[in-house]
Amino acid sequence: MNRITLFFSGAIMVLFASMLYSAATEPQLEKTIQKGKYLFIHGTFGGNGMTCETCHTAAGAGPGKTPGGMKFTSLANAATIFPRFNPKNNKVITLEDQIRNCTVGALQGKPPAYGSTEMNALVSYITSLSQGKPMNMGGKPK
Ligand code: HEC
Repeated sequence: MNRITLFFSGAIMVLFASMLYSAATEPQLEKTIQKGKYLFIHGTFGGNGMTCETCHTAAGAGPGKTPGGMKFTSLANAATIFPRFNPKNNKVITLEDQIRNCTVGALQGKPPAYGSTEMNALVSYITSLSQGKPMNMGGKPK
């Protein structure tokens, strides 16, 4: 391969890489992801004062830990494993359903409505944690 071919193949690779990552940098999407992250860390949804961050540490990227000390998985691959069967509900649930379950069950708050700005922001933020990871519907949380 001569230098010119090398230069052009390098340029094409850079172009492809920027196309791959353009989804996450689209300004409106990025704004919504950031809004979701803010809600995740600060939102109490009119409940008992806890936020999502209380149990899902490092804004969901870190290991789960309840105030009582029970340890569980992170949200690092959460968006890749929904929809999935939830034995507690005895039905298949979506990521939105799970967000509402935690808002009601853990925060004792008013869950964000399906399709609301808050719900779409939380879904966008949680999905951004799984960006680039393979879909594994029904799989195990990590
Ligand atoms: C009191 C602790 C606690 C709080 C606060 C909490 N959660 Fe959870 N969350 C859990 C536990 C425990 C699980 C895993 C067990 C389960 O499915 O119930 C879980 C599971 C999840 C999952 C599925 C993760 C997976 O991969 O299975 C998502 C998504 C989630 N929570 C989002 C949220 C959001 C969004 C909030 C804030 C509105 C929130 N959680 C607040 C305890 C909490």
